[in-house]
Amino acid sequence: MLILTEFTLVLILSTRLCNSQEWKFPVDFKFGVATSAYQIEGGWNADGKGVSIWDVLGHNRSVLVEDGSNGDVACDSYNKWEEDVMMAKNLGVDYYRISLAWTRILPEGHGTKINPAGVDYYSKLINKLLENGIEPVITLYHWDLPQFFSPLGGWTNPVIVEYFANYARTAFTLFGDKIKTWITFNDPREICQTFKGLVGDVTPNFPLGVAEYLCSHNLLKAHAEAYHIYDKEFRSKQNGKISIIIDFSWSEPANASNPEDVRAAEQNVLFDFGIYANPILDVDYPKGVIDRIAERSKLENLPESRLPKFTLAEKMRIKGTYDFLGINHYMTTYTRAVDNRQVTRPSIEVDAGGERFSDPTWEGCAAYWIKVVPWSLRRLLNWIKNTYHNPDIIITESGYADGSEVLEDDGRINYYRVYLNATLQAILEDGVNVKGYMAWSLMDNYEWIFGYTLRFGLYHVNFTDPNRTRTPKKSVEYFKNVIKTRSIN
Ligand code: NOJ
Repeated sequence: MLILTEFTLVLILSTRLCNSQEWKFPVDFKFGVATSAYQIEGGWNADGKGVSIWDVLGHNRSVLVEDGSNGDVACDSYNKWEEDVMMAKNLGVDYYRISLAWTRILPEGHGTKINPAGVDYYSKLINKLLENGIEPVITLYHWDLPQFFSPLGGWTNPVIVEYFANYARTAFTLFGDKIKTWITFNDPREICQTFKGLVGDVTPNFPLGVAEYLCSHNLLKAHAEAYHIYDKEFRSKQNGKISIIIDFSWSEPANASNPEDVRAAEQNVLFDFGIYANPILDVDYPKGVIDRIAERSKLENLPESRLPKFTLAEKMRIKGTYDFLGINHYMTTYTRAVDNRQVTRPSIEVDAGGERFSDPTWEGCAAYWIKVVPWSLRRLLNWIKNTYHNPDIIITESGYADGSEVLEDDGRINYYRVYLNATLQAILEDGVNVKGYMAWSLMDNYEWIFGYTLRFGLYHVNFTDPNRTRTPKKSVEYFKNVIKTRSIN
């Protein structure tokens, strides 16, 4: 007699799902591709555009960039946007995520002087996408801060909150009647931890262990202001959604049966992700972060914690400012607990503690931080579900880099196969509310301090050809087929 235990039932069910028609993306699940302004547009000073911190870095300090290049022309999408739309259409995507260059709209970064040519550029692009049945998803800030704010300390200066709010209101006014999905910020961790609120360690004496937190503090307030402006002044007419994208690198305990490792890995998750997510999806910074920085500040004989405090009113203003959660995911590490009670030069890395390392058997790619570890995507999705009451999630970036001009990009195909499968497992087996997945990126582009040395595109771009010719890689057919069949093959 066959006795069906709970375990065998689960096993039968998941095998049935894997092998059948039902192992498919739900009907309301949306696929997309993503890019950002500085990485693709070029036209850095075209038709009245103002200067951003990345224009300045690319011109004056391109020694910081692996191949000494800049984004002056990039993929030339400022001129080739129609072709980009056709490429997205060929893929059959529901979404095309772009970012606005703040300085193309407000060349000075502040005030009310709007650049009509910039408005025209984005209006044409948005209209073309809509005509072709593709929903434009707009990120307001994808790292190209107006240079005006640089001498003021960028995101570390609280005055920026109002300036960002002004820019956000301008964007909602100009484009909001056509846009249903807005993103305030892309990857606060990169903005505040990697770039310390400016770009690429510009100021050698930047106060580490302080700057990162000032940046996060102001960025979270700016996000909340933009959310409330949308909510109060635009939502009822425009009926869109607005949120933030937070990069989530997963930390796995080196030894899951060692409570110290488990605690250290969790602490890394809180410093990488929770520090931005918790004030929005719950309230205030995570307790683990507050306590740890207070403890280290005390060790350093400081009179108070290096982590700024939100007032009660600020906590309440930030809490709940999301209509869904955007997640970018690339990196996985193991974390081992280490004894780091000694006082060293403070930084967020020291505050986060633990020792991170990757498993040498994990498959890598040309970007050193990306390993092909799909189970970590499933884990972090479950972590969000369990920690924040199962919000709607859109995976707004996930991707794989080649280091050379590969057209037969089997590595990328395999990457999408296993990461999309992990996404399906999270949805169908774990009940996580994942509503969309966007590939990074539609085409090869300017990969920040790695210049053109890393290629993330589904489409190849020839950067030595003045025409910036685009050619589909093998992964185009693969991704297209996933979208068409709503299943992984
Ligand atoms: C995340 C960033 O949003 C994007 O700009 C970058 O190109 C990708 N990661 C790949 O590194």
